[in-house]
Amino acid sequence: MVAFAVVDEHQGQGIGAALMRPLAAIPRRAGLNELVAEVLPDNGPMLKVFENSGFHLTRKRTSEVVHVALSLS
Ligand SMILES: CC(C)(COP(=O)(O)OP(=O)(O)OC[C@H]1O[C@@H](n2cnc3c(N)ncnc32)[C@H](O)[C@@H]1OP(=O)(O)O)[C@@H](O)C(=O)NCCC(=O)NCCS
Repeated sequence: MVAFAVVDEHQGQGIGAALMRPLAAIPRRAGLNELVAEVLPDNGPMLKVFENSGFHLTRKRTSEVVHVALSLS
């Protein structure tokens, strides 16, 4: 499971996007091939970070959350 938090005053400056690839390299090196996350449907910035990560992504929307699975392989 992966989760991100950027302090309020530094949000929207590209930090989340910049962290995605180097952070994903850690579980990849450890042999994991998938990261999963649950994102609130109205959390556009987080969904964009995942969508623009360059990894293959699947999304499943429920009434409450979007289940995201990122393929690291
Ligand atoms: C979600 C979060 C980690 C994203 O990190 P960030 O550094 O703010 O995001 P970035 O600046 O890299 O922006 C990512 C994308 O969202 C967009 N975005 C960022 N803030 C936005 C805002 N307030 N409104 C609209 N779009 C926004 C950016 O334009 C970018 O899209 P692009 O790549 O198409 O240009 C950060 O906002 C955060 O910590 N939020 C609170 C905690 C949270 O929700 N964590 C996720 C729980 S699953």
